[in-house]
Amino acid sequence: MQHFRPARWLQGGILALSLSAFGVLYSGQAQAQNYYDQFGGKAGITALINTFVDNVANDPHINYYFAHTNIPHLKYELVQQVCMAVGGPCKYTGQSMVEAHKHLQVTTAAFNYLAQDMIDAMDAHRIPIGAQNYLLSLLAPMEPEIVTANGPLG
Ligand code: HEM
Repeated sequence: MQHFRPARWLQGGILALSLSAFGVLYSGQAQAQNYYDQFGGKAGITALINTFVDNVANDPHINYYFAHTNIPHLKYELVQQVCMAVGGPCKYTGQSMVEAHKHLQVTTAAFNYLAQDMIDAMDAHRIPIGAQNYLLSLLAPMEPEIVTANGPLG
């Protein structure tokens, strides 16, 4: 049974802070490359995104948001985005997060359910915890660009 772990977001933020301090002193590039390998490179990230999108599709809290979405295109963009974020040799050329989500009425609760679906996918693929926290620490600050609506829980 998985539980949402808000501490993981915080932990990721703290880790990101200490990593950026490390990067100033040493090589941030080498650190990012290391995470790409820990995600299993392009093949590992592709497998991860497939599981993540399956999780979202099976998540009754949020799957209706994706009813009219071109899923192969979404998967392609997510692979490029995550690959680039973790230091891989990819370039994300999709829409900005504001542009992609502004018409969707995404709530904070929906954002958190999607985050849990990503955590579950990373656990299923045995991504090392430090690498998981690194990706979460990059996704968490995107919340204000994606959440545009209030739900019953805020
Ligand atoms: C950090 C969290 C998130 C990231 C990194 C992210 C990333 C993306 C990316 C890369 C795209 C494709 C953009 C393009 O086609 O150029 C996209 C589209 C989309 N996202 Fe997100 N997203 C996030 C959160 C959410 C949440 C919480 C929801 C709803 C519960 C959501 C719903 C959608 C939908 C429905 C589309 C397709 C829009 C369309 O087809 O017009 N996203 N997202």
